[in-house]
Amino acid sequence: MANTLAEKYAERIQHHLSKYPDKRSAVMPLLYIAQEEYGWLSPQGIEEVAELCDMDPTQVKSIAGFYTMYREQPKGKFWLHVCTDLPCALKGAETFYADLLAHLGIEDGGTTEDGTFTVEHVMCLAACDRAPMLQCNFHFHEHLDMDKMRELLDQWRKEAEAYANKDV
Ligand code: FES
Repeated sequence: MANTLAEKYAERIQHHLSKYPDKRSAVMPLLYIAQEEYGWLSPQGIEEVAELCDMDPTQVKSIAGFYTMYREQPKGKFWLHVCTDLPCALKGAETFYADLLAHLGIEDGGTTEDGTFTVEHVMCLAACDRAPMLQCNFHFHEHLDMDKMRELLDQWRKEAEAYANKDV
C-alpha cells in the first residue's frame, strides 16, 4: 500500500520524527497530519501512521480513541465546538447554539448535507468571559452573535469552495 502521508508530507513527518529518539513518540503529531489529509482518522490514515511509527495499527487506533481532538468518524471540513457549559450558558451560549443549529438545519453533533460543517456542543474551553464562543478546527472565535456567525460561516464556505476547486 502506498503511504500517501509519507509522499505528501515527507518534510513535516521527518521534522517530527527527528525530535524523538523513538519513532513511536511522534505518533500524536503524525495523527494530526493524517487528520489534515483525510479529514478524519480513516483506516488508511491509521495504517499509514502506524507504518511511519513502526507500530501496530490497533495501538495507533487506541491512542486516537483516547483523545477528543482526533476525529474517529468523518466530519465536516469545519468542525465547530460551541461551549454551552454553565458560565457560557449564563451569557447566552445555549440560545446562540440553538440558533446556529437552526440556521444550518442540523441537530447537535450533526453535519451539514454539503459536508462543510459539523457542529457539537462541548464543556468549558477556558474562555468563559468571552461567551458565546466556539472553536473551529481548534481556533477560537469569541464574543459571538448570529450576525458575526453568519459572516464566519460565509467566509468558511468560500474557503471550502476554494479548497475544493484547487483539488479539481
Ligand atoms: S464555560 Fe464556556 S468557556 Fe468556560
